[in-house]
Amino acid sequence: MKAVILAGGQGTRLRPLTYSVPKQLVPIAGRPVLAHIVANLEECGVEDIAIVTSPEAEAAVRQMISDEGLERLGIEVLIQNSPDGLAAAYEVALDWVADEPCVLYLGDCLLTGGIGHVISEHVAGDFDATILVAEVDDPSRYGIVEVADSGLIERLVEKPTEPKSNLAIVGVYVFGSGTSDIVRAVEPGFRGEREITDALQAIVDGGGRVAESRLAGWWIDTGTPPDVLNAQALLLEGLETSQDGTLEGSDVTGSVFVAEGASVEGAVLVGPVVLAEGAVVRGGTVGPNVSVGRGCVVESSTIHNSIVMSGSIVSTSHLSDSIVGPDSEIRGVQGQPDVRLIVGAESAIVSGESSHSG
Ligand code: TTP
Repeated sequence: MKAVILAGGQGTRLRPLTYSVPKQLVPIAGRPVLAHIVANLEECGVEDIAIVTSPEAEAAVRQMISDEGLERLGIEVLIQNSPDGLAAAYEVALDWVADEPCVLYLGDCLLTGGIGHVISEHVAGDFDATILVAEVDDPSRYGIVEVADSGLIERLVEKPTEPKSNLAIVGVYVFGSGTSDIVRAVEPGFRGEREITDALQAIVDGGGRVAESRLAGWWIDTGTPPDVLNAQALLLEGLETSQDGTLEGSDVTGSVFVAEGASVEGAVLVGPVVLAEGAVVRGGTVGPNVSVGRGCVVESSTIHNSIVMSGSIVSTSHLSDSIVGPDSEIRGVQGQPDVRLIVGAESAIVSGESSHSG
C-alpha cells in the first residue's frame, strides 16, 4: 500500500501565519501536522509515501522531513503548481502511484484511533475505494456519504441542507488500483476546483464498489486558528511527563514535557505544556495547553492555550489562544483579558518601554 499526503493549497483561513508557514507544518503539541500523519501511516505499516505540496512550501516540507528524522523513509516530494483542488493534487502523484492501491490523506487532518482498519477493511472487501467517515451531530456542515442497503456508498453530498446521513467525510481515502483514470478525468466543479468527491462519485456511478469505514477516535481539520488550538488541547490530554531539561526554582503541576537542553527558571508551569529543545522559560506562568518551540525564550510572561514556534521571543507579555510564528518577537504585549495574537514568521510586536531592550 502506498500513501499520498496532500500538503499544497492556500491555507487562507490561517492567514497571516500561512503567508510564511504552510498550515501542514504548524507544530501541534510540538510536532508538525505532517509528521503526525507520517507517524500514523508508519504505525499501520505504510512506508511508501509521497507528499504533494506547492512550489512555495517545498523547501519547508523538505526541511521538516530532515528535522523530524524522516529521511530514512525516502519520502517523495511532488509539486502541484497551482491549488486547483484535491483531485488535481492527487493527479500530480498518479504516475508515482502507478495504479497501485493508495491511501490519500489530507495534510491538515489530525485524527486519533489510527487508520489501519480503513486499509484492512479496504483490502478484505476488495473495494474500488474506501472512505474514512465519522458520525457527526451536524452533518450539514460537512461533506457526507449516503449508504445504500447493500452497505456500499451510493452518493457523496457536500454540505447537504437536508442531510440523509450523519456520516461525515474525514479526509482519508483508499483508492484501489484501476481508479487513476477516473481521477484524471475529473472536471472543475462549481467552486472552480477539481474535487476528489467527484472522482469518488464517478467510481460509484461507473458501478464501482465504494465502502465507508468508521473513525475510532476524534478528528480535526486544522484549517483555522481555533481548530489548531483545539487539536493541540486534545492531543495534549495524553501527554506524559518527561523532564530531560533543567528546572530550577519552579513550580510544576500537571504533565509537562521538558526536552533535553530546555530550561525553566523561577517560573510556573501548568501542564499540559511542551517545551522543545533549547527552549528557555524564565519567570511567569506557562500553560495549560501550550507548546513552545526549539530555542524560544519566554520571560516574565503568561501564556495559555497557545503555540509559540521555534526561535521566537516572548517577553513581558500576556497571551491566550495565540499562535506565534517562528523567529518572531513579542514584547510588552498585555491586555485585559489576555491578548490573542496570530503572527507569521519573523514578525515583531513590541509595546511600551521594553521595546528596545533586546
Ligand atoms: P483545504 O483545507 O480544502 O484547502 P486550503 O488548504 O486551500 O485551505 P483554505 O480553505 O484555508 O484556503 O485542503 C485540504 C488539504 O488539501 C490541505 O492539506 C491542503 C491540500 N490541498 C492541496 O494539496 N491542493 C489543493 O489544490 C487544495 C485545494 C488543497
